[in-house]
Amino acid sequence: MNWNILPGKDRNVLRSALAETDLVATSLRRIHGVDLGEGKPVVHAVEYVGEGGAMCVYRVWAGVGDQPPYSFALKMIKSRRLAAIFHRPVRNASALGEEERVEDLINWVLEITKRVNRAAPEIYPLFGGYWRFRNDGGTLVRLLTEQFIDGPTLLERRIELENMMAAGELDYAGYTARRVALDRLTVAAFVRLWNALDRSVFTSDPSPWNVKVVTEGTSIRVVILDLHLLAEPAPPIFLIERFQALYGLRAEIVRGAILPGIADVLGREEAATLFRELQPQLDELSAKSKERVGTDLYSSVRRAIVDWFNSMS
Ligand SMILES: Nc1ncnc2c1ncn2[C@@H]1O[C@H](COP(=O)(O)OP(=O)(O)OP(=O)(O)O)[C@@H](O)[C@H]1O
Ligand SMILES: [Mg+2]
Repeated sequence: MNWNILPGKDRNVLRSALAETDLVATSLRRIHGVDLGEGKPVVHAVEYVGEGGAMCVYRVWAGVGDQPPYSFALKMIKSRRLAAIFHRPVRNASALGEEERVEDLINWVLEITKRVNRAAPEIYPLFGGYWRFRNDGGTLVRLLTEQFIDGPTLLERRIELENMMAAGELDYAGYTARRVALDRLTVAAFVRLWNALDRSVFTSDPSPWNVKVVTEGTSIRVVILDLHLLAEPAPPIFLIERFQALYGLRAEIVRGAILPGIADVLGREEAATLFRELQPQLDELSAKSKERVGTDLYSSVRRAIVDWFNSMS
């Protein structure tokens, strides 16, 4: 394969890591169920996908002999940023050195990833493996692999819908309906994540750029890509606050996406119990927000809950 198409910074490290570890064979086996037996995998291409706060993401194409290649995501972890991205209260922090702290954090995130893979395999990429590799200069490189999820992020999909509206292919009502429906699917995926983690851990950043919209025939599914800023504990009010912050306070979002997205997963009865328990907390937050910012940031969700109960009775 031609390694020169990759950005220079990681090219040599990746080339060595793929040659010197069992990363490719193991990822093909775990992610795609490909058993190589004694055979060696062939790497056809490595593409640069992008990078964010904590990872540099590549897509590896590899397979057996002349058969069509499979792909998977390869993520190079930027250790220095890790503590900021995967936040958690560290136990025995002072007793651990920097490297142990990073390893402790990664192990925790990987443990959570595996729990999600087991409990709700459709909402998160399948985990391939984690490798520590020393490059020529002796620097420790941390790599993990997972299923590559094709398709636009929710943010990109929204832009596509906006462009369709601008081109006259969708009117405003059609655009809004599709956008709200996607947000509802996304909220539901995040509630599934919360369920998979026994409702005790949740990401503080359930944002539209960290989920992918996957279309399979006529069905649409949302896959979560990141478990950024995991928070523990994660009471229901925390989810409501994060959804409000990232999807909006507008009535159409709260009524059309946030509340129904929660009820889609929990079912009507359990959602009713949860909303009922939330009411006094929301009343309190309302009063506080009026005091602090001069406006009630929780009025739409409180009203939407009342209307939700009325529509059920
Ligand atoms: N499993 C995956 N399958 C396909 N694309 C992925 C996968 N994981 C990450 N990506 C893509 O890789 C790119 C970098 O992801 P990354 O999460 O590191 O950064 P980001 O989402 O841009 O920023 P942030 O750090 O805020 O999440 C993004 O375009 C993301 O959509
Ligand atoms: Mg991301």
